[in-house]
Amino acid sequence: MSGLRPSRRGETAPASPIRRLMPYAEAAKASGARVLHLNIGQPDIPTPRGVIRAYQTYAEPVLAYGASEGALSYREALAAYYNDLDAARGGPPIEAGQILVTTGGSEALLFAIGSTCDIGDEVLVAEPYYPNYKGFSHILGVEVRPITTYAAEGFALPAARVAAAIGPRTRALIVSTPGNPTGAVLSWDDLNAIGTVCRDRGVFFVVDEVYRDFVYDGAGTAPSVLSVPGLEECAIVIDSVSKRYSACGARIGCIVTRNAAVWKATLKFAQARLSPPVVDQLAAQAALQTPAAELRVAIDDYERRRDCLVAGLAALPGVTVQKPAGAFYLIVGLPVDDAERFAIWLLETWRLDGETVMLAPADGFYATPGLGKQEVRAAYVLEVPKLERAVRILASALVAYSGRTPVLA
Ligand SMILES: Cc1ncc(COP(=O)(O)O)c(C=O)c1O
Repeated sequence: MSGLRPSRRGETAPASPIRRLMPYAEAAKASGARVLHLNIGQPDIPTPRGVIRAYQTYAEPVLAYGASEGALSYREALAAYYNDLDAARGGPPIEAGQILVTTGGSEALLFAIGSTCDIGDEVLVAEPYYPNYKGFSHILGVEVRPITTYAAEGFALPAARVAAAIGPRTRALIVSTPGNPTGAVLSWDDLNAIGTVCRDRGVFFVVDEVYRDFVYDGAGTAPSVLSVPGLEECAIVIDSVSKRYSACGARIGCIVTRNAAVWKATLKFAQARLSPPVVDQLAAQAALQTPAAELRVAIDDYERRRDCLVAGLAALPGVTVQKPAGAFYLIVGLPVDDAERFAIWLLETWRLDGETVMLAPADGFYATPGLGKQEVRAAYVLEVPKLERAVRILASALVAYSGRTPVLA
């Protein structure tokens, strides 16, 4: 042993609550059990054929680097997409020069935090949040200050609560809408009210819109912050093809900002990593041609899955769940002592017809210590029969689990 240690920031980086129980799932599978993965937001809907074809027909003799900001033809196609989006009409048109292509929405988040915050600065995040907001902030030496939202309030984020949380070191607010893990969708009025607070207080408003299309009950797409006039300087959109086109492996996302200085700062990060994936951009450009009807079929499917999972879970004694308006996640309150202990116990011990369920303990979706201890996040990215089986497994498990808390009738 050399005694060489990794960096403190590496050692203390938070483990992904979505993946940290994977060794238990692997052990369950090795012992012959089937595992229903409700822990991860990996859509199972087939990727549009046009996307796959773009990979199959790539014929260049050399797979060269591309432009750091992304291929112009793709950025022009993306600008047309944003300008066509009903939910984005209202603000000035988006131009290709306001878009920077990234390696997934993940890199867009990293770049957005890096180009708005310095070491020791602070970002506000509405908790429960997408855990990488904290992970990426940690990597960049930026502190996360949570603004707690509550299931009983539909995970609403009142602008007044944002205003109250802004401190001297606050540089940005990051929210996802539709929300991961809450499923909450911010209305245009919400975006306007929160964005106005951010603008007036000199705070960037980073809006993660990767689930824009996943809105149910006939509500169309989620409103985009790009459609709110007056936020040109402070609004930054995070986007991705992963969920919209069921193309998580394509690793293509983007940043959209009308703030030219932020775009230029982001470009420096982009130049440091040379170029986003080249063939994947062709595939992502092809994805923009996906017929709206094909996307609609997928959204309708998710709506059926949501309805199945919410109804099944709501019927279990002591389980609390809100019907989410969008995305494909649920925060589920469980009558157990400790959701992580329960999730591990499920993987280690509990089988129904040789099958068990993997859940993501929700404490990793909160920065406030103690919150989320009796909650899990469930993703409804499995077919309805599998979700029905998952509910049956949970129903039987909650009866058998020794750490269950008393349920009042
Ligand atoms: C809210 C949110 N933002 C960003 C991402 C990053 O996605 P990707 O890097 O695949 O584009 C995810 C992935 O699950 C997400 O849930």
